[in-house]
Amino acid sequence: MINLALNTYLHILLIIVIFCCLVAELMLVNNQISFRTMRKLSKIDGLYGLAAIIVITTGLLNWMKLGKGYDYYSNNSLFIIKFSLFVVVGLLSLYPTILLAKLKKRHKKDQLAVIQLSHSNTIRKIIMLDLGIMAFIPLLTELMANGIDL
Ligand code: HEM
Repeated sequence: MINLALNTYLHILLIIVIFCCLVAELMLVNNQISFRTMRKLSKIDGLYGLAAIIVITTGLLNWMKLGKGYDYYSNNSLFIIKFSLFVVVGLLSLYPTILLAKLKKRHKKDQLAVIQLSHSNTIRKIIMLDLGIMAFIPLLTELMANGIDL
């Protein structure tokens, strides 16, 4: 029981980190960004990736080992939706990650450069969509954890 509580605590803590990373990225992404901001963004993106890996690992541990049993979750459609939505968030996040990595590589030597980020609106929309989906997932979790299914 204590393992479940600690693992779920870690799960939720890292979900909060993901939220913080998304909000920070939303605030920093602009049409024109300095190389310094670009470096900040890629650090935040790295932290986001690490947090996502820990959320997946702790989530899988709850699912397979510590929680209410593999079948309980696997047979609940709200859990399947939750899992799928998190995969969607991950896939959506690939676009900003790849774009920022490419830009950072291109401007590696030019420390003072101001980078024109022509795709900034798309990135901002993707981050807002990610935030919306992430805000919805705990509702699905609570419903499913309390025995509610579709
Ligand atoms: C691969 C992705 C994920 C998996 C496999 C997963 C799986 C799980 C499982 C099995 C539990 C235990 C539920 C119970 O109490 O019986 C849990 C708890 C929880 N999950 Fe996830 N999860 C994932 C991602 C997420 C995400 C992205 C969020 C939020 C945005 C989230 C929010 C929560 C919350 C709030 C709890 C605590 C529920 C409670 O104790 O009442 N999970 N997760």
